[in-house]
Amino acid sequence: MAAKKLLILPGDGIGVEVMAQVRRIIDWMARKRKIEFEITEGLIGGSSYDVHGTPLSDETLAAAMAADAVLLGAVGGPKWDDLPFDVKPERGLLKIRKEMGLFANLRPATVLEALADASTLKNEVVAGLDIMILRELTGGLYFGQPRGIDTLPDGTRKGYNTLVYTTPEIQRIGRVAFDLARKRNKKLCSVDKANVLECTVLWREEMIKLQKEEFPDVELSHMYVDNAAMQLVRNPKQFDVMVTENMFGDILSDCAAMLTGSLGMLPSASLGEADAQGRRKALYEPVHGSAPDIAGKDMANPLATIMSFAMCLRYSFDMAAEADLIENAVKNVLKGGLRTADIMQPGKAKVSTTVMGEAVVRELDKLN
Ligand code: NAI
Ligand code: MG
Repeated sequence: MAAKKLLILPGDGIGVEVMAQVRRIIDWMARKRKIEFEITEGLIGGSSYDVHGTPLSDETLAAAMAADAVLLGAVGGPKWDDLPFDVKPERGLLKIRKEMGLFANLRPATVLEALADASTLKNEVVAGLDIMILRELTGGLYFGQPRGIDTLPDGTRKGYNTLVYTTPEIQRIGRVAFDLARKRNKKLCSVDKANVLECTVLWREEMIKLQKEEFPDVELSHMYVDNAAMQLVRNPKQFDVMVTENMFGDILSDCAAMLTGSLGMLPSASLGEADAQGRRKALYEPVHGSAPDIAGKDMANPLATIMSFAMCLRYSFDMAAEADLIENAVKNVLKGGLRTADIMQPGKAKVSTTVMGEAVVRELDKLN
């Protein structure tokens, strides 16, 4: 089998620290599971600006386009806050996502048994929660034309954005959604606002068509987005895979993230169009940012980024067994009582980023 080409972009702040722990897991996979990785490391965000005067160099972008998958830490920090808009660290992230054509954003919200207390919701509502929100990332209200702020002849100002999707755009996100559902529990909920927005009437029609023609084994339901927000908080375990428009997905995925109560635990994946071999461009990153308040202190929780690497194995390399291994190692380490500061509970042992990373590797050894 050809070596897996991985581009690693630690970024800024705690991105660097959590990625160092992921490197250990990658080394472990190479040694113990004989997976051949070809690893390139690059700069993005503020650390790229400091060297190249741009948050995303052509070199890094070319490496991303050539890689089988990109692993990213986080970007940004106070050092770069006053830079012009175009060279801000966050622009590097937006640009790489756009250039790679990453239209499908996978945001799992999982409540590990050991952490059910971290949620502000009742234990019985969230314990065992395991849902996947799929957000369309390159279309919809955030990108539709026309958009802008105009001044009318009478001096009134008008601000507007447009919700637009074409059928190919709906179909490609739909296929990713049905595929995910097929590999999980064969249940997909498509979230729209078809009672008010024509664009999402089309969305719903296309999802129904896809189900009939290509995914008859997956059960499809529909829900209006306002109800979906309520249901996520009332009884989130009724869902399995949810798929939705860009802005709806932005809001619902953040809402679902907080059901877990632990920002430092949340991974994500963003996927692009499939090539002739069925392989997709892909970028894996934690949901959290660069956490300047704790950067450089060996305090950050590395588990979100470690679980992002597990998603990489699962979705880019079809290595479900290895992904499970990592996820189980994380579960066991938490069951054993180790906690970084962000998920600290009374009576548990507070540990550093490094110790948490080491513990996951030790657990992998036990499980292997
Ligand atoms: P943040 O996610 O960096 O931090 C929010 C809070 O959560 C902080 O108190 C932080 O200490 C804590 N936290 C985050 N990740 C943690 C982890 N792994 N372990 C322990 N604690 C953790 O969001 P914030 O503060 O709004 O933004 C800080 C910088 O990060 C800004 O420059 C922002 O633009 C950037 N950012 C970058 C993102 C990315 O690279 N994808 C996403 C969000 C923000
Ligand atoms: Mg958001």
